[in-house]
Amino acid sequence: MSATLPHELSEISPTNVPKVVSGHLETGSAPERHPRVPLAFHRLAPAEMVARASAYADAIVNRRSVRDFSTESFPLEILDHAIRAASSAPSGAHQQPWTFVVVSEQRVKRRIRDAAEVEERKSWEGRMPPDWVDAIKPLGLSWQKPHLTDAPALIVVFAQPWRMVDSADGSPRRQKHYYVDESVGIAVGLMLSALHLAGLATLTHTPSPMAFLRDILGRPAHERAFVVVPVGYPAFGANVPDLQRKSLNQVRILR
Ligand SMILES: Cc1cc2nc3c(=O)[nH]c(=O)nc-3n(C[C@H](O)[C@H](O)[C@H](O)COP(=O)(O)O)c2cc1C
Repeated sequence: MSATLPHELSEISPTNVPKVVSGHLETGSAPERHPRVPLAFHRLAPAEMVARASAYADAIVNRRSVRDFSTESFPLEILDHAIRAASSAPSGAHQQPWTFVVVSEQRVKRRIRDAAEVEERKSWEGRMPPDWVDAIKPLGLSWQKPHLTDAPALIVVFAQPWRMVDSADGSPRRQKHYYVDESVGIAVGLMLSALHLAGLATLTHTPSPMAFLRDILGRPAHERAFVVVPVGYPAFGANVPDLQRKSLNQVRILR
């Protein structure tokens, strides 16, 4: 942001922005250097900035992990908007190492739940180290995962640790992706935020292990399941653990 811009709007409409010459996303090499385009930036008055920051924080602190979902449907197009928001996340070397699979077919959700419960049951009945059991015990969880079939939709997020690109001689080769977990984690955070602000409940669910998701959803070898996010309305009377969050003073250090 240039310091010389006036306080009033200095907006460049996204429609005015010239298209960036795209590199090949799945195969092929990136361009030598991306052309530069003007930054689309909407400058706000300071009071408006503070008001927006405060309103966002007030709204997002009410997000909770919900484990009891209603089966009531909601407009599925909300998921596309949330995924669009997620997919705008910054990513290491702009490699965008993510795929979002929207599962709304009951039959597929059932397969995911059955496979997750097989794994979770093994974990709960001996595979989890005692420290892990102790850490999650206060949350009152179990190997049973009804949210995987009750929620009208699951968004299964896959991370891509690498992709295939064309070498100079045209032969395919693996290209490593950088900061994959950080990038996908930020994208999931944006998605959870978008869904919460749209009035939907979510759970960040990481069945362990979750390799079965790649098979059930027919994803390629270079994708690794990262998280399952059931989305929907909370069930009538749903409750959540009474958790205390760290205060601002506990998490923010001023120097
Ligand atoms: C990476 C990650 C993995 C999680 N995995 C699970 C999970 O497998 N099952 C579950 O019920 N909750 C899971 N959670 C949710 C946490 O338990 C929850 O975020 C935490 O208890 C705080 O509650 P809140 O989200 O309502 O603030 C996970 C959260 C994160 C960030």
